[in-house]
Amino acid sequence: MGKFQVIDHPLIQHKLTIIRDKNCGTKVFREVVDEIAMLMAYEISRDMPVEDIEIETPIVKSVQKTLTGKKVAIIPILRAGIGMVDGILELIPAAKVGHIGMYRDEETLEPHEYFIKMPDDIDSRQLLVVDPMLATGGSAIMAIDSLKKRGATNIKFVCLVSAPEGVKALRDAHPDVDIYTAALDDHLNENGYIVPGLGDAGDRLFGTK
Ligand code: URA
Repeated sequence: MGKFQVIDHPLIQHKLTIIRDKNCGTKVFREVVDEIAMLMAYEISRDMPVEDIEIETPIVKSVQKTLTGKKVAIIPILRAGIGMVDGILELIPAAKVGHIGMYRDEETLEPHEYFIKMPDDIDSRQLLVVDPMLATGGSAIMAIDSLKKRGATNIKFVCLVSAPEGVKALRDAHPDVDIYTAALDDHLNENGYIVPGLGDAGDRLFGTK
């Protein structure tokens, strides 16, 4: 079974409170999502493998650590996932970025894929699928189905706020996928919003309604 980790670092909790507040405007919301994504990337990369290499410092030859293992691709689920990309890229600047577009039918709440553009080597990369909200889990499950069909085997899912319903659905559908969230909230309401949540992450990031 994949990992389920709430990354509840004090800085992340503090920043999450800022963006949960309905009076937080678009500019600050965007900046703080960026910061939280960067802090989460720091934690998520904690188990990245390293190997020894020999280098020469100005003083002596020396054996030091360097990152090894799979290269990373960040896969934002459009549109809100885009808000988490730059923060992760600040720490993993060589990552490629693939996009997958999902929209949620307002009535059935069912997700539909309308766009996909991936790096051609996702089968050999560590994929970080990002979406701020893990609500029903529908979009995440469908996005990951789609990536696995294209050969992806190494997938972590990263969100800011999750609902227990979405975590269960994603773990049932893709037990191999590690899930990282900054908060596990109470439940989903009848409109599919996470409670207490932060509202519609896409609208708050992009200033739409
Ligand atoms: N998507 C959002 O943006 N917010 C929610 O609360 C649930 C799904």
